Amino acid sequence: MSFSLPELSDVPAERYAELAAYARALVDGETDRVANAANLSALVKATVPDLNWVGFYFFDGAELVVGPFQGLPACIRIPLDRGVCGAAARTRATQRVDDAHAVADHIACDGATNSELVVPLVRDGELIGVFDLDSERLARFTDDDQRGLEAVAAVFVESLGPGVR
Ligand code: SME
Repeated sequence: MSFSLPELSDVPAERYAELAAYARALVDGETDRVANAANLSALVKATVPDLNWVGFYFFDGAELVVGPFQGLPACIRIPLDRGVCGAAARTRATQRVDDAHAVADHIACDGATNSELVVPLVRDGELIGVFDLDSERLARFTDDDQRGLEAVAAVFVESLGPGVR
């Protein structure tokens, strides 16, 4: 099987609808969380401009542990009481940070990161992990980006087989 990247519209809302459809096709019939997290990271990194890190952290019952990603090597374990990722996991609400350097609790895995979006991954009330996106651009993430990337995170959660956490 070979993959070609989708030609995405220039209109942000349409672009993300197309990206979500492509994401659904990419995970179709596969429930393995590493496989799907790896492919979705690669898809988003290749199609959404100005991202220096895209990837997943999985909750192991105590901490967030780095999973599949695209970007530079990253912090391996993040306690729930630390960082933007910890805040997303703890509050189960998307965290959008326009200026990472203005957030005292930001964990600088890659010093080039200036803004960040972290979407919690929750399934049947249980925390699975977070989907983390970093940009070198200040205030990179708009409302459209947030909605569109939350939709990609939802595709990931829905792709998991029954009982997978
Ligand atoms: N900046 C994140 C840590 C993860 S890295 O960006 C990959 C945080 O503050 O939680």
